[in-house]
Formats: sequence, structure tokens, C-alpha cells
Amino acid sequence: MTDHRLHAPATSRNRDAILDALRGVLPAAGLVLEVASGSGEHVVHLARDLPGLAFQPSDPSPEALLSVSAWVEAARVPNVRPPLALDASEAPWPIASADAVVCINMVHIAPWSAAEGLVRGAAEVLPDGAPLYLYGAFRRGGVHTAASNEAFDRSLRDRDPRWGVRDLEAVAGLARHAGFAGPVVTGMPANNLSVVFRRVR
Ligand SMILES: C[S@@+](CC[C@H](N)C(=O)[O-])C[C@H]1O[C@@H](n2cnc3c(N)ncnc32)[C@H](O)[C@@H]1O
Repeated sequence: MTDHRLHAPATSRNRDAILDALRGVLPAAGLVLEVASGSGEHVVHLARDLPGLAFQPSDPSPEALLSVSAWVEAARVPNVRPPLALDASEAPWPIASADAVVCINMVHIAPWSAAEGLVRGAAEVLPDGAPLYLYGAFRRGGVHTAASNEAFDRSLRDRDPRWGVRDLEAVAGLARHAGFAGPVVTGMPANNLSVVFRRVR
């Protein structure tokens, strides 16, 4: 039988740091929508360690959706819903509400329209005070925070000119415009950031 599980090596390195960061951000109960679930390795890890929450994975890629389902089935985690086909840049999203939105390593590895759609869509589905959590590499004050991020940015733009490490201030501007407060920023291993915006009405 075909094994549809994809493996993204970085997930094994960053998943515990992300879990620790999310413990202080996510509510104790409710539904967490993950945008851009990719392989599905993060959602399985988070769901296993945060059993009080339900998780809704999503991705626009059919391969990713198959991989998420395969990881969830293999891990036998009961608190993960079947993945949704969700392209952040396409409105409306196929989900009416969530208590938190988590998006790991997407805004720099997708066109800017995905970041725009992410904050717009998250603002639609989140109630007052609920978090939008982003993880990834960002520039701050118009500069890269590490030489490795600058090289990473070049490699992304070589792969697709629409991709690239984003200015945190530009993402924060989108979020402010969509109705979020913040960001609350935490440094993470390997020159990444956790960035939390909270919905305000
Ligand atoms: C680098 S992968 C990250 C996957 C996973 N979050 C991780 O950290 O391993 C980027 C993901 O973003 C997804 N993606 C790209 N454009 C998107 C969009 N417009 N809306 C939602 N997801 C998108 C891709 O399909 C891919 O799964």
C-alpha cells in the first residue's frame, strides 16, 4: 500500500520549541486551525501534547492533504479533524470559526497574497482576543537578523521570485489593518521568530 506520509526534516528540529511557545498562546480548549500544514508532522505533534484542544489541519496542496491524513492515521491522534483544502489567499475560507489560527513557515514560502489572505481570513474566523500565531524567518527594521537568513532569502527568491523572507513590520501592518493587536515577538532557535497577533474588535 502507498505510504503518503511526507517528511519535512525541519519539523523534527523545531516542533518542540513551537509546542513550548504555543503552550503560552493557545486557549486550554477549543479548535485550532492550522493553515499550511504541509506534511502534517506539526499538527500530529501538537495534538498529541495538547489533548484538550481539537486541531483542524489545512493546505491547498493535494499531496500535503494526503500526507496529513496519513500521519494522523499512523499516530492515532483522536483530536485532529480531516484536513481541509484551504488556500489562505482565497476568500471565503471553508471554515466558519476557530479559537486560534497557527501558521508555520508559510508567509516566506508563498506569494505575498498568501500573507494578505492569512490575516484577512484569520480576522474573519477568530473571536475577540483569539491568537493568530506565525512561526518563521522575518526581517526586522528592514534588515535580516542573521547571515543564514539572508542566504535563505536568496535561495527562496531563486526558487520562486514571489517568495522571500518578509519584513515583520509589513506583516504587522497587514495584521493591524485586518483588526489585530500586536505583535508579541519571541526569538526562537535557528534565527526564527514566534509572532502572535490577537484579534481586537
Ligand atoms: C514550507 S511548507 C511549510 C509546511 C509546514 N507548515 C512546515 O512547517 O513544515 C509551506 C506550505 O505552505 C503551503 N502554502 C503555499 N501557499 C499557500 C496558500 N496560499 N495558502 C495556504 N497554504 C499555502 C504549501 O502547500 C506548503 O505546504
